[in-house]
Amino acid sequence: MTDKLSRRSLLRMGLGGVTGLALPATVATAVAARLALEAAHTSPSVDRFAVPLTIPPVLTPYDAAEPTDIYEIRQVTAEAEILPGLRTPVWTYGGVYPGPTIEARRGRPVSVRHRNELPVPTVVHLHGGVTPPDSDGYPLDLVLPRGVHDWQGHHLGAGPPPGGTAGVAHGERTYHYPNDQAAATLWYHDHRFDFTGPSVYRGLAGFYLLRDEAEESLPLPRGRREIPLMIQDRFFNEDGTFFYPSLDPTLVERPGVQALFADGVRGDTILVNGKPWPFLTVDGARYRFRVLNGSNARAYRLRLDPPPPGGGGLVQIGSDAGLLPRPIPLDEVYIGPGERYDVIVDFSRYSAGSRVVLANGDGDEPTAQVMRFDVGSRATDDSVIPETLVADLEPMPPIDAPTTRSFVFTGGQGGIPATINYRTFQADRLDASVPLGETEIWSIKVDPEHPFHPHLGHFRILDRNGEPPEPQDSGWKDTVQIRAGVVRVAIRFSTYTGRYVLHCHNLEHGDMMMMANYEVIP
Ligand code: C2O
Ligand code: CU
Ligand code: CU
Repeated sequence: MTDKLSRRSLLRMGLGGVTGLALPATVATAVAARLALEAAHTSPSVDRFAVPLTIPPVLTPYDAAEPTDIYEIRQVTAEAEILPGLRTPVWTYGGVYPGPTIEARRGRPVSVRHRNELPVPTVVHLHGGVTPPDSDGYPLDLVLPRGVHDWQGHHLGAGPPPGGTAGVAHGERTYHYPNDQAAATLWYHDHRFDFTGPSVYRGLAGFYLLRDEAEESLPLPRGRREIPLMIQDRFFNEDGTFFYPSLDPTLVERPGVQALFADGVRGDTILVNGKPWPFLTVDGARYRFRVLNGSNARAYRLRLDPPPPGGGGLVQIGSDAGLLPRPIPLDEVYIGPGERYDVIVDFSRYSAGSRVVLANGDGDEPTAQVMRFDVGSRATDDSVIPETLVADLEPMPPIDAPTTRSFVFTGGQGGIPATINYRTFQADRLDASVPLGETEIWSIKVDPEHPFHPHLGHFRILDRNGEPPEPQDSGWKDTVQIRAGVVRVAIRFSTYTGRYVLHCHNLEHGDMMMMANYEVIP
């Protein structure tokens, strides 16, 4: 680690005298610290289940030129009414928070021209996308604000980005997405080096729903009964502005958050699609919910309260990277930042007039509730949950794959730097080289809890602490929330060569450099 980096790591933690890098931490201390944090700021109180859920608008291509859909998104500041009667300044994709949904089809490429009219550089990443490196949103591939030509003196307060300026664009960049992958609930969000957490928090996130014929041939709920849910937590000030404990509120010079929040910012107000604890009026029928945990750091244990008679009310049909082979009835879903669960809820199992809360078993007041479903009378429903969702899900790769790598994620709380393999990120250091076409076994060891996310490579979970994976681990994933221990995954690299990152999806940890470079080599 260079002097510069170590000094910066310490600075961003607001600490002067940390010497050791990898002090062991326990889940207990992490939990205690977390409880202290939630008390660190109190948002204005809001009535729960008082505002209806809204659904982000679907973006229309401005040009559907054969064979590509071309979109344009202006990244602009705006105001949103999040808390009733108050205006919240937000950073947006296209003027709305959350950003507009892009609907894509497998095999039909999408190009999105992003114009940066925000006061800071931005980077757009399509999370879960199998994307060539120059469109993947490498955190230093900045798009400078329109009209800004010299970012020197602003970026990091000193000189050009450590990886060089080759990937820096001026005013706009067009990202190309081949969509050569299975139907899945993807999402796009800001990924700027050092400032991803606060930028996403201010609003830079949206859904990207990739569809394909195989999925469309299934009789799943669709139309107004197929609903994306972006769950996020926020703190607010009395005037409705977001509270985020940045060291530099302009998000230009000094990265990081106040030391108290180094383990991630977990707000006390739960938003779904940008509304606080909303309600949704539903028919007594099946609904498909594409649940995304778009929170910076909070994980949720989602349950239906009350559960339907007989339980198994959340029927999981899909994971991060697409449909599961078979549906799995679950009583609860533990979802870490960045993860997606595609679930079906059959509200005909409840009597008309029921009020069903989507609860968070891991939350305390007020974060123990997420939203509410107000169940109407039984309605016509020709949807079915098929017993087989994907007949030919690519099989689990052989367990004796040739290369095994291990990544140790430690720290990020209690004054301990957030590291991977005991090192903080360095843009010009390559941490792993993976041959194209290989499936590798990666062992991810975490202490105390971190969501692991590699760009590009999708993976299957082989085991958790030596035990067989949980039923909900049965599909292809791109993010996994790991609680103290080791998860082994089989990860494949069959598409593009080039440089990518893997990182902790606790966005504050990522900004504290819990990130590593890897390269797929020919
Ligand atoms: Cu959603 Cu690199 O992240
Ligand atoms: Cu990603
Ligand atoms: Cu982490």
